[in-house]
Amino acid sequence: MDSLASRILFVHGYPLDRRLWDGQYALADGWSVRMMDLPGFGARPPFPEAPEDLTLTHYADAVRDEIREWGDEPVVLAALSMGGYIALECWRRFPEKIAGLILCDTRAEADSPEGQKGRLAAVEKVRTGQADAMFEQMSKDLIAPSRRGDDDFRARVLEMMRGADSVGVQQALFAMRNRDDYRAELGGITVPTLVVVGELDALTPPEGAKSMAEQIPGARLAVIPDAGHLSPMERPEACNEAIRGFLEG
Ligand code: MLT
Repeated sequence: MDSLASRILFVHGYPLDRRLWDGQYALADGWSVRMMDLPGFGARPPFPEAPEDLTLTHYADAVRDEIREWGDEPVVLAALSMGGYIALECWRRFPEKIAGLILCDTRAEADSPEGQKGRLAAVEKVRTGQADAMFEQMSKDLIAPSRRGDDDFRARVLEMMRGADSVGVQQALFAMRNRDDYRAELGGITVPTLVVVGELDALTPPEGAKSMAEQIPGARLAVIPDAGHLSPMERPEACNEAIRGFLEG
């Protein structure tokens, strides 16, 4: 990729924060890297709007602001899961600021009616003080079985989840529930794209990633061995190797 691709902006998934990408600081030897917190996660307060009113456009605006703050040059957007949904909304809204896409453990489909019900059930859990039990379960489900006994690793995942603002978590749930189906957009992506997926990702499995990569003109697919839904955190070296290979073209 040409010099437009010298900056990589990393966008985390739900309900995590920028520390998801700690393993990707290693890429700073060849590229400028910036890891952002979405509103309501990590160090950032939530949006002022009521959770029900949130859509992915709010988060895409936050990404646009981050790019502006970083000098307003086009960036490679590297985004995981909900971050990937946001990246597709960013592509829809300001493709001129996107030099490339790295879509990790994500999908283009909207929530199914069942999935939408699940979002409301999760909102209810957060509102009734059951978020911690939900995070405990998620911290296991999101990662490869081989990692589940790694207490330090799970503690890092849980620390991000527990650090999320309760309103911010609800906002993200509503925004995901309210999101469009982006499949029709995939064929119109004209920037170099890498699709990354953990071999054992149970939430957005490799078959879906393969199909997404097939629909994006010229996209590459990297399947990360022995990784689940948090592949860049679970297997940073393997992910970084895939990213380096992609960016070096
Ligand atoms: C994420 O990892 O961002 C979320 O789990 C995605 C989702 O719930 O759809």
